[in-house]
Amino acid sequence: MSFIVAANWKLNKGPKEAESFFQEFLSGNEALRSEFETLFFVPAVDLVTANAFLEDTPVGWGPQNIYFEDQGAFTGENSPAVMKDIGATHALVGHSERRHIFKEADGDTFLKMKAAIRNDLIPVLCVGETIEERKVGHTFDVLKRQLSGALKEDVTTSLFHVAYEPVWAIGTGEVASPGQVAEAHDFIYSWMAEHCPQAKGSKILYGGSVKPDNAGELSAVDHVGGFLVGGASLKVESFIDILKACR
Ligand code: PGA
Repeated sequence: MSFIVAANWKLNKGPKEAESFFQEFLSGNEALRSEFETLFFVPAVDLVTANAFLEDTPVGWGPQNIYFEDQGAFTGENSPAVMKDIGATHALVGHSERRHIFKEADGDTFLKMKAAIRNDLIPVLCVGETIEERKVGHTFDVLKRQLSGALKEDVTTSLFHVAYEPVWAIGTGEVASPGQVAEAHDFIYSWMAEHCPQAKGSKILYGGSVKPDNAGELSAVDHVGGFLVGGASLKVESFIDILKACR
């Protein structure tokens, strides 16, 4: 299976900007694009546009967050069933901004993983430690807590991916070193081998200030099966340059 390069647009771009991005993205570099599995996690308002451009392509797409119920009195939430209905293929779960700004707990990430799988969406679970947690040597404890909180019961036998995103490297320009990435990915890989041995095909993505100039080196680290890219995914050129660097 090919290396995944996933874009996380966060709260950026409306439908018009999404449209021009996808037009430009799909208009060239076909051979390069076909070597990778590319995904786009777009704001809710761009989901219909994403489907219009991507539905007949191998490019996957989905929301940055889903609710764990399919419908009902949940004002302001995104239904995973509706996401599936409009063509989404994937869903991001437990991004650090959801955990830290919106106070999502490990229990929420488990329910969201289940909701994604129930609706035939492939979830990408984000995990990662804060700088304070790293400084006191708690990185692996945090990863273990976040993994065991979300990956249990029938989730462990389904297809999902995990994105290791150290909170201190997200949007800061401070990228984790290849050694730090190797250590964390190795830990996640071993944890998954022990607790989710039936989850074949799952990849471990790295996220946190991935740019064209560090992507090549990081993509070569053991157990790095893809990237989750924020800032550098907002321009077609830098997103394409990341693919080129990973070749
Ligand atoms: P960044 O964001 O690439 O801008 O650091 C990554 C993410 O939050 O997924």
